[in-house]
Amino acid sequence: MSETAGQEAPPPEFAEIRAAIARIPRVDIAIRNTPLIEAPNLARVLGGPRIFVKRDDLTGVAFGGNKLRNLEFRLARTMQENPDVVIVGLDLQSNSARQTVGACNKLGLDTILVLEGARPNQVQGNLLVDYLLGAEVHFARDRAEQRRMLDQIAAEQRARGRRPHILNDNPMFDVASAIAYLETMMEMLEQLAAIGVRPTAFYMSSSGKGAAGFEIARKLFGGFAVHCVTATSEFDVPARTAKIANETCEALGLSLRLGAEDITNFTGFVGERYGVPSEAGNEATRLFARHEGIVLDPIYTGKAASGMVAHIRDGRFTKDDVVVFVHTGGSPAIFTWNQLWADGAGATP
Ligand SMILES: Cc1ncc(COP(=O)(O)O)c(C=O)c1O
Repeated sequence: MSETAGQEAPPPEFAEIRAAIARIPRVDIAIRNTPLIEAPNLARVLGGPRIFVKRDDLTGVAFGGNKLRNLEFRLARTMQENPDVVIVGLDLQSNSARQTVGACNKLGLDTILVLEGARPNQVQGNLLVDYLLGAEVHFARDRAEQRRMLDQIAAEQRARGRRPHILNDNPMFDVASAIAYLETMMEMLEQLAAIGVRPTAFYMSSSGKGAAGFEIARKLFGGFAVHCVTATSEFDVPARTAKIANETCEALGLSLRLGAEDITNFTGFVGERYGVPSEAGNEATRLFARHEGIVLDPIYTGKAASGMVAHIRDGRFTKDDVVVFVHTGGSPAIFTWNQLWADGAGATP
């Protein structure tokens, strides 16, 4: 049964979890709640369950995405040190970097990015937005050089009388992400309950952090499956997810503990490797765009959507089931991969 006659009250545990989250320092950055909308055309084309899309790409700052939610906790911690400039080392085309610069702008902080990779001839996608947002951007050959540059730039800033904060040294990334997505799950369960719909399964791109929040929610509230699809095969995601979930429970004062066996991850949709679009991901990206006007990205959300599409086509769900796809952002990447779409990648023959 996916549908109930009317509106259901949220489980009593929600208030308790929200009270625990409210004890963690936080700044206001993201637009919340984000919309949860039905995708009937996609459901019809795939011939499977009802599909809803959680528009967490619409969190409102610098093209939005999942990181703005966790930045509320991470930057609250940062602000306790009273910095005036945040220095952060991330990947060349990082969604996280873009959202960090946008969030810092809202807090009146300057941002210096040290991105791993060479400056491309064509500045596109997230990097283009980083420049637009006013970040000072440096490029590092590898992780080791990136670390050296973070420390060196911080020292230079200090010598100029500024108060730098290296965000990579902020210990909250994992736990803040899990808390943010535990909260997002409660938000979605309430949105679904308000329209009398019971979810069967949630699909999301996650390599451990957001997934940890969803798995905690599943253990606490039950009644639905969490299907996180990884964008990388570089590490043991279930073990990492369980570790982050347990650190998060500890931070929130919850007695719950999870093991790797509690985590359902789908690692089979990465394609060639992290950061390289897959054919199935491109097709899923096209399907969302063509039938619902929703723009995914070929690195994270497109691949996660390809997992959901494959499972629906495999007949895992009935027409009475309800599947929720969580759009975690990342759409500026379509411009980085512009030739793909111009060449018709993912188009159904
Ligand atoms: C668009 C998008 N989706 C999902 C993820 C995965 O998030 P996490 O592994 O932190 O849950 C990322 C991470 O950078 C992302 O940029």
